Amino acid sequence: MSKEELLARAKETCEGCQGCPLGKTRTNLVYGVGNAEARLMFVGEAPGEREDATGIPFVGAAGQLLDRYLMAVGIPREDVYIANILKCRPPHNRDPLPEEEDVCIAHLRTQVKIIAPRMIVCLGRISAMRLIKPDFRITREHGIWFRRGNFDMCAVYHPSALLRDASKKEDMLEDMKVIAERYRAYLTEENN
Ligand code: URA
Repeated sequence: MSKEELLARAKETCEGCQGCPLGKTRTNLVYGVGNAEARLMFVGEAPGEREDATGIPFVGAAGQLLDRYLMAVGIPREDVYIANILKCRPPHNRDPLPEEEDVCIAHLRTQVKIIAPRMIVCLGRISAMRLIKPDFRITREHGIWFRRGNFDMCAVYHPSALLRDASKKEDMLEDMKVIAERYRAYLTEENN
């Protein structure tokens, strides 16, 4: 079975998930979007209002800003895979609860296992604390690379944080440039 088929099947299983109360309040499951063969994966926090309404991650204001950074550094959005720690929207966009993350992380693990990317970039503190280390400090540690299992990982500011504080945008662009350089280096390596 292809990675795409495996992901489609895993998504179907996820559709039926009632592992936490968010399964009852969501409009749509926001499983993930992108290339099943991606070498680079982005992981955000949880769906917002637009994502809940459409079932697609990062399509609201934060997502549009993310798209601009991807474009600025020459990474086509359709080449990467984008998912969240939580697949269902928390009410009023509150932070995910640890117990929601504990349940939902199994779905992300399945996605990562199927896609098997080389690089995972955490979008924001919540994702970095869950995937890189619990005491991750986004202000001090954004753009720093960590090796976790088979993956090179780093975190960047969450695009929503950039919408609130434009002074972070310069750091974001620098981090994204390094991500793009590494990404292209992997692609070159794999094609040789
Ligand atoms: N914020 C996130 O963390 N994920 C989304 O999909 C949208 C906004």
